[in-house]
Amino acid sequence: MSTTKSAAITLYEESERFSDAYPEYDLSKLPQWVRDNIQEARVYGNQKKGVILADGRKYHLDNKLNDMTGRDWTFFINSVFSTHYPTRGTEGYAHEIRKIHPSPKPPQLMRDLISFFTKEGELVFDSFAGVGGSLLGAALCNRKAAGIDLNQE
Ligand SMILES: C[S@@+](CC[C@H](N)C(=O)[O-])C[C@H]1O[C@@H](n2cnc3c(N)ncnc32)[C@H](O)[C@@H]1O
Repeated sequence: MSTTKSAAITLYEESERFSDAYPEYDLSKLPQWVRDNIQEARVYGNQKKGVILADGRKYHLDNKLNDMTGRDWTFFINSVFSTHYPTRGTEGYAHEIRKIHPSPKPPQLMRDLISFFTKEGELVFDSFAGVGGSLLGAALCNRKAAGIDLNQE
């Protein structure tokens, strides 16, 4: 039985090396997962704005919103996530302490939302911080965070 190459692998093989297309590019602007594989990265498209890795992961150089691959972005906006969040153990992120608040948000949920709307290293400010669900979520995805709350307690 013959095997067929995926369209992504074919695209990769036919594309130009990133380092040839952009010899002076400021790599600090790229997500960590692209930087980690920059030697193999290639660019595609008329404007050479698409970056593709050997495993088919893609990133667009005009992506000002987040660090996601094209596939993860599409999955996020087309999905309903049915899950639950632990309130005990290390995954509970001190829920026992935080439950003095009537509606503490799960840090893992906030991590996923923050990951979609920010890039690594950016600053998240929560003006309704409560007991810090979003601040913890920001830390879980390597964003900086600051928060305030009306309630001193
Ligand atoms: C839904 S809770 C936020 C919970 C938070 N995401 C967490 O995980 O703990 C809303 C918070 O907004 C605070 N709040 C309401 N009005 C505010 C205001 N004008 N300025 C600052 N904080 C305010 C409340 O005290 C409350 O803690």
